[in-house]
Amino acid sequence: MPKQVLLCPPAYFDVVDRKNPYMLGKSPVDRAKAQQQWQALCSALERAGCQVETIAPVPGLEDMVFAANQVFVGFHKGLGKFIVPSRMLHPSRQREVAFYVDWYLQHGFKIIEVDLGADYLEGHGDLLWHPDWSLIYAGYGFRSTLGGVEKFSHAMSKLDIPVVPLHLVDPYCYHLDTCFCPLNNEAILIYPAAYAPESLATLRGFWKRMHHLTADEAHKFMGNGIVANGSYLTPYVTPHLDAILRQEGLTPVIVDTSEFEKSGGSLFCMKTLLP
Ligand code: ARG
Repeated sequence: MPKQVLLCPPAYFDVVDRKNPYMLGKSPVDRAKAQQQWQALCSALERAGCQVETIAPVPGLEDMVFAANQVFVGFHKGLGKFIVPSRMLHPSRQREVAFYVDWYLQHGFKIIEVDLGADYLEGHGDLLWHPDWSLIYAGYGFRSTLGGVEKFSHAMSKLDIPVVPLHLVDPYCYHLDTCFCPLNNEAILIYPAAYAPESLATLRGFWKRMHHLTADEAHKFMGNGIVANGSYLTPYVTPHLDAILRQEGLTPVIVDTSEFEKSGGSLFCMKTLLP
């Protein structure tokens, strides 16, 4: 079975406000270039053996291209495939959620509604499965709140799925997926300075090999890559990262995301892996 991934074409992609420190608006988005880069990502995913599904973009939803954030996608033996809808911090992004929920409903996913109250939870920006789908790592601090992660954790405990909260402290790593990238069941790429000390200590217990990105690598989204069939799709590579990847049996594949980086996102943020 090929890995299935969900993406959204960048037809209305733009940078119109400052949701994170990358969104400086210094140079405007080149939408034609964004479209080419997105197409190249789809091709790279297909070459790496993935099947690409798409959701229709909606006018006015300038961040909808970041398909990782609107819901959390899970699988449970008893329940089958399910989603937990996000409550996004930014109102413009909150409007994306209903469109994604519809897509998942039409594709046979069950919904687990978590009453988040005034808390926030941002899907796979902050909630990441262990590669064997045995537990979930949950970042909080900038987008998802600790309360949101606790409410989510309570809902997952009913399915016997453990959740590991991780406190994020670097504004350039405002989502967990910018500083946390499992390479296989035993090895992970992290940017250590993105975590509060006690969270970093917790994380160490779960991995045999923790590879550290430098600040420059992390802030250029080299930890926001996609692992697929022996490839590591990444927007850039350094000799240091290249050596780590080779040690883990992965081959780097460069996919340019310069237009999307203007919005604070790269490869991992632009797709959701479907179970
Ligand atoms: N401009 C988007 C935002 O700030 C980028 C989201 C990136 N997504 C991610 N999973 N890191 O919300």
